[in-house]
Amino acid sequence: MINEIKQRALQEINQVNNLKELDDFYRKYIGKKGEITKILRSLKDLSERERKEKGELTNKIKKEIINLINSKKLKFANDLNHQKTSWIDVTAPGLLPSQGYPHPISLVQEKIEESFQSMGFSVIEGPEIETEHYNFDALNIPKNHPARDAWDTFWIKNFDLLLRTHTSPMQARYMEKNNPPLRIIVPGKCFRHEATDSSHDVQFYQLEGLMVGKNISMANFKGVIEAFLKDFFGSKLKMRLRPGYFPFTEPSFEVDIKREKGGWLEIMGAGMVHPNVFKSVGYLPGKLQGFAFGIGIDRLAMLKYKIDDIRMFYSNDLRFLKQF
Ligand code: DAH
Repeated sequence: MINEIKQRALQEINQVNNLKELDDFYRKYIGKKGEITKILRSLKDLSERERKEKGELTNKIKKEIINLINSKKLKFANDLNHQKTSWIDVTAPGLLPSQGYPHPISLVQEKIEESFQSMGFSVIEGPEIETEHYNFDALNIPKNHPARDAWDTFWIKNFDLLLRTHTSPMQARYMEKNNPPLRIIVPGKCFRHEATDSSHDVQFYQLEGLMVGKNISMANFKGVIEAFLKDFFGSKLKMRLRPGYFPFTEPSFEVDIKREKGGWLEIMGAGMVHPNVFKSVGYLPGKLQGFAFGIGIDRLAMLKYKIDDIRMFYSNDLRFLKQF
């Protein structure tokens, strides 16, 4: 019987192809409930002579089987090493170098630029450090005027300079150097000395728009903005104008939008350019008209990507950034 087990084991070990099967094989013969183990356990019931004889034979066979197992194990280890060192799959894909991602604000800014460019607007940039003149005075916000309180300002001490609180100063800078008719947009970073919360940060992005010519009216403004919003959101949406106040426009309004779900949301300030702004840049106010607007780029990005806290944009959290 013991020899029969040995014959079976010798045959079976040839069919063993991996470590899992080898483990099963070990358990079948040598393990606690293995066939060889059972025989060794039953020896105690035999007579001394029989016990000695059968015991010796069984232990010999046990050793042989263990040797078989060990050499099989060695063979598997060798095969594995061999695979690792000498087998190169030249068709396997390489390791991708890690790649950066465009920031959601940049994506949205690009999309807005493309949309306005298709309507004939040029993209202009301006300085982030401004003078009081362009940030306020040229925009009909004189010193000590209460309207200045609407823009909490970071002043640069001893230099009479400030961090621009909006992109509107570029209206004045551009009109001083260029004659109408003109159509520009000015994207850029702005700064406000404010407490932060989920919809306000000390740093944010705005996009200024300005269109000036002989017969530019509110109707032109509505047409341009509606075309832009349709292009940007690509879905059904309603727009409404509410009366507002900005010193550099008259009349002024706030633009709200409403998408299929959700309520009205303010996304920009706008209006017809105030004659005093034309005067400050040397235009003859009577002959010209124009509209201007300021869009919150962060706001649009939050709406588009359903982000509920503006501070996410400036947190540099890769878990956030990798999603775009
Ligand atoms: N500069 C304004 C702000 O930061 C936004 C704005 C409102 C810009 C009306 C405009 C405008 O050009 O006409 O609050």
